[in-house]
Amino acid sequence: MRVIGLISGTSADAIEAVLCRIEGAPPHLEVEVLGAHTLPFPRQLQQRVHDAATVERSDVQAIALLDADLGELFATAAQELIDTSSESAEHIDLIGCHGQTIWHAVREDGSVASTLQIGKCAFVAERTGITTVSDLRSRDVAAGGQGAPIVAYVDWLMLRHARSYRAVQNLGGIGNVAYLPPLADQTTAPLAFDTGPANVLIDVIVTLLSEGRRSFDQDGAIAARGTIDEAWIEQLLSHPYYALRPPKTTGRELYSPAMGAELLTQGRERGLGDDDVVATITAYSADSVVDQFARFLPRPPDEVIVAGGGTRNPTLMGRLADRLPSGTVLLPLEDVGYASHQKEAIAMAVLAYETWHGRPGTLPAFTGARHGVIMGSITPGRLTGRP
Ligand SMILES: Nc1ncnc2c1ncn2[C@@H]1O[C@H](COP(=O)(O)OP(=O)(O)O)[C@@H](O)[C@H]1O
Ligand SMILES: [Mg+2]
Repeated sequence: MRVIGLISGTSADAIEAVLCRIEGAPPHLEVEVLGAHTLPFPRQLQQRVHDAATVERSDVQAIALLDADLGELFATAAQELIDTSSESAEHIDLIGCHGQTIWHAVREDGSVASTLQIGKCAFVAERTGITTVSDLRSRDVAAGGQGAPIVAYVDWLMLRHARSYRAVQNLGGIGNVAYLPPLADQTTAPLAFDTGPANVLIDVIVTLLSEGRRSFDQDGAIAARGTIDEAWIEQLLSHPYYALRPPKTTGRELYSPAMGAELLTQGRERGLGDDDVVATITAYSADSVVDQFARFLPRPPDEVIVAGGGTRNPTLMGRLADRLPSGTVLLPLEDVGYASHQKEAIAMAVLAYETWHGRPGTLPAFTGARHGVIMGSITPGRLTGRP
């Protein structure tokens, strides 16, 4: 089958689109990437997403309009991918569209009440004529799961090693990990959960400091100039989220613009300069990953495969490499054969493919659901009936 995967993460920086050829069935799934396209978010639309996801700045009219505008943007990403590839739309069988998360409602006890992805997939199916699978997370939530991390099952299918214990760590807005015991170990359970903030707090603070002129710390340059306040990091890691046992997930509801602003104020009260605040929050973001590995992984992984925008921040990556146990090797996803920014879009294509074949796309060990679920809602593509 030819399948397109579409996703935008919590950073709302870009839609990643990939076209894959997928054949077979687990455990012998064959996935080949035929084409890829990145459609950056117009700055104004990114701001509308962040506003919609911030209680004090959100309203129902804004969300309704954004739902349609994002549907158009996902459709555009798919169409541009098709235009740049050698395949015509008639030869593409399926689209898996994640949409844009604007709210992930976590209860006090850590369970998930609802997760909301917007970007109407009717627009994607209508513009491309291709059958589209969307709202991939809700069925897992209905089965008592977190609806996340959504990519872990695909990591488990595609990235387990014969003998090495691997952790696949994504550094998006939020960080998440999939812990993958090797194929040789049939007894250790796999595990997946959100580790905490990866880029989100850095982004919020840099946006505030630059009065909106910048939305992230390009190449970690600001953080590299600052001095790290180690004592502050220790305090920050006493936040209750880090003690909560997996499966657990989080988002911009907790690691919010308000938290970013509060951290900036705290940093200034501690006498830190702007660069020092960014340096400390960058180190804290890396340390939250290391802290969560130490607390919850059954044993330190032999290899940590890293992906996501955070891999392009050398200051963040340097701290991570520094603080991981010495026997753990840090591997870019590229070293195991995938482009880092394409990974989640590939996963959406694989999940849609699995849904189309009536197979589950989750593991209870990852999401905490009562059972594995067939994910998503299916919107028909080309309609050949009468008008
Ligand atoms: N060159 C870079 N230098 C520093 N940070 C970067 C760079 N490129 C991307 N990032 C960070 O990665 C984030 C986007 O990562 P991504 O994996 O797309 O996250 P999400 O899945 O939340 O959209 C940006 O918001 C930014 O913080
Ligand atoms: Mg992104």
